[in-house]
Amino acid sequence: MRKINMFDTTLRDGEQSAGVNLNHSEKMEIARQLERLQVDIIEAGFPAASRGDFHSVKEIAETIKGSSVTGLARTNQKDIDTAWEALKYGEEPRIHIFIATSPVHMTYKLKKTPEQVVETAVESVRYAKKRFPIVQWSAEDACRTDLPFLARIVKEVIDAGADVVNIPDTVGYITPEEYGKIFNYLKENVPNIDRVKLSAHCHDDLGMAVSNSLAAIEHGADQIEGTINGIGERAGNASLEEIAVALHIRKDHYNAMTGLKLDEISRTSQLVSKLTGMLIPANKAVVGKNAFAHESGIHQDGVLKEVTTYEIISPELVGVASNSMVLGKHSGRHAFKNRMKELGYELEPDELDRVFQAFKDLADKKKEITDEDLMALMTEERAGS
Ligand code: KIV
Ligand code: ZN
Repeated sequence: MRKINMFDTTLRDGEQSAGVNLNHSEKMEIARQLERLQVDIIEAGFPAASRGDFHSVKEIAETIKGSSVTGLARTNQKDIDTAWEALKYGEEPRIHIFIATSPVHMTYKLKKTPEQVVETAVESVRYAKKRFPIVQWSAEDACRTDLPFLARIVKEVIDAGADVVNIPDTVGYITPEEYGKIFNYLKENVPNIDRVKLSAHCHDDLGMAVSNSLAAIEHGADQIEGTINGIGERAGNASLEEIAVALHIRKDHYNAMTGLKLDEISRTSQLVSKLTGMLIPANKAVVGKNAFAHESGIHQDGVLKEVTTYEIISPELVGVASNSMVLGKHSGRHAFKNRMKELGYELEPDELDRVFQAFKDLADKKKEITDEDLMALMTEERAGS
């Protein structure tokens, strides 16, 4: 089975979420939890962006031993030197250099010709390689880049010493099939491609970041970049926890695995949500409050008889104590009786009929019925009989 490296950029791309600003101790806390989760690489920040970012990247690089730590840099020497100062005492100093390669970015943002972009990319990789044992290079907006140009620049940066080549879908534009084809194209048209690890980095503007990342794995990506809870610029990045669990549950399909400690997922997700202030949607895959909650009578009855009828992920796998049966108007007698038993009420059949009816009437008026509601119903029932 292929091992996929998980590159977590919660502290860099994730922190680029509008309204998120983590302080130093919050970044340290998240980095330590990412180490517990056993991500392979932590992108701790962008050292040249601010003094605060520099300080955090440096301390994370010096502290974290279980994951490799990296920092982002543009292609200029000052950014690369600053990244070196921040990362040099890390276990395995690794830099992440990027430059845009799409026509729209080269023309309007960089104001450079394609030739100049190739030259700048090559020079920066050569310069970084003098110090860093591992150099990752990213073609920003790769998915809107002309493929022959992408293949050419990728070949040149590999010759200049890049160890990892990342193909970002910077604006969340690509579809899974198209993304797979880009990886195929590079494998077929870049003669030295076997010298590097290929990486995928997807954004979620069209809601396809996870599917695109999984497609990249099917087409040869060795590394996946993403964030916890999918936080990040605009609609966010690919959710690392969703990708890791998808690979685990569907190993029959992907034949690939990560080294993540899956039962640390829930804790990591809660911590990132708490410190960033970004709430997790209740229905979010794997980490949402409702991910293991069953509401309808048919589903509850199925799960109580055999859990795999409606649960393909066991909550314990991702560090959630248990599933839950939410009592509402769709719930049936089986789950109701079960909960009453857990609350200590053994109901005779006629009593069960009456209290179940009272519960249904209440559920028509209220979204979720709590244990306190059930106890109140029982008090009324017993007072009346
Ligand atoms: O989305 C993107 O292109 C990035 C790069 C800096 C890798 O985040
Ligand atoms: Zn990004």
